[in-house]
Amino acid sequence: MKLSDRVQAMQNSPIRKFNPMAAEAKATGTKIYHLNIGQPDIVTPSVFMESIKGFDQKVLAYAESPGLPELQDSIIDYFKGFDMNLDRKDILITSGGSEALTLVFLSLINPGDEVIVAEPYYTNYLTFIQAADGVIKPVTTYAEDGYKYAYMDRLEAAVTEKTKMISIVNPGNPTGCILSREDMRVICDFAKKHDLWILADEVYREFAYDGREMTSFGQYDDVADRVIIIDSISKRFSACGARIGCLISKNADLMANVMKIAMGRLCCPTLEMVGATALYKLDDSFFNEVRAEYEKRRNVSYEALKKIPGVVCEQPGGAFYITCKMPVENTEDLLVFLLKEFRENNETVMYAPAEGFYATPGLGKNELRIAYILNADDMARGIELLGKGIEAYKAAGHK
Ligand SMILES: Cc1ncc(COP(=O)(O)O)c(C=O)c1O
Repeated sequence: MKLSDRVQAMQNSPIRKFNPMAAEAKATGTKIYHLNIGQPDIVTPSVFMESIKGFDQKVLAYAESPGLPELQDSIIDYFKGFDMNLDRKDILITSGGSEALTLVFLSLINPGDEVIVAEPYYTNYLTFIQAADGVIKPVTTYAEDGYKYAYMDRLEAAVTEKTKMISIVNPGNPTGCILSREDMRVICDFAKKHDLWILADEVYREFAYDGREMTSFGQYDDVADRVIIIDSISKRFSACGARIGCLISKNADLMANVMKIAMGRLCCPTLEMVGATALYKLDDSFFNEVRAEYEKRRNVSYEALKKIPGVVCEQPGGAFYITCKMPVENTEDLLVFLLKEFRENNETVMYAPAEGFYATPGLGKNELRIAYILNADDMARGIELLGKGIEAYKAAGHK
């Protein structure tokens, strides 16, 4: 009996693969500051649970494959705030943004097709694209340059006859890089020139700091037929466990074909769709508060990182991650040291090593991603532990 070559070639997510080691440390009473995963500690708005409690149907039945119409309508109203006019047929409700991404790649990629992705990228893109037998064609970005990638010459250099699409996460995970209107225009023009799909993962849309504008690729009419938007309630409404997201496109052919797979998987969980319907109706005051809180966390985290000698990073403009170069050769090795050997007052810290966020071999070994999803005091303490851990690591003879 044999497994597929495809699945055997895949990686374990660097965001989660050290969890068993963390569990061992916790079993001995060690407190771990979890800066490795984008799991916010913000309380999920109470309307989510309240609307589920009010669910009064006697049978918890399958929903229709596209999702509950009232959730689609709630999403339509939300996007009106971005001057976008969507229709129910443009929206497929999915089990998180993750399922939406899987469906998109399965629907667009033939074996060997290439997807242009700025690296470092959200590591699970590799998994989703490999599952569809696609190939990531990376555009390498750099800490010193704020991880920017919307340069026509760099994008052009990545195009081959196999290029099928360009995949954007904006605001970016893991870099926090955020596109300006000019950057978005560059990407739209690039996609038109080479007849590419634009996959716009905008699950962090509201997390735009320092007064930056919240945007969507859905606002560009001249590329409406080639844009696919990924949205999710996980981050915006701190509802990761609900597993509700959506795929949005004005391209009827794509939507009709994605629906074949969506019908096969039947539907998303009904109760969570009921809760999500209420979330999408929340007004700006909810986001304003959350955004201010994350901006504070970002500032504290960035200042704390700068205190560690040898760290290279720019202050990110959006999402809730900072990727930086560290003064060590191998951040996976450092993480193992932090989880197994280093303790201060029986505390240690966990982050995501960044090598798995790169397609180019050898890159990212000395980088890591921090998610600033804990309150400001905990972020400061977690990063202080990182600095002290590096000192101890080096004192123990590691490079
Ligand atoms: C860029 C990006 N896209 C999609 C997802 C998937 O989120 P979910 O499946 O919870 O909606 C994540 C989760 O971290 C993410 O960072």
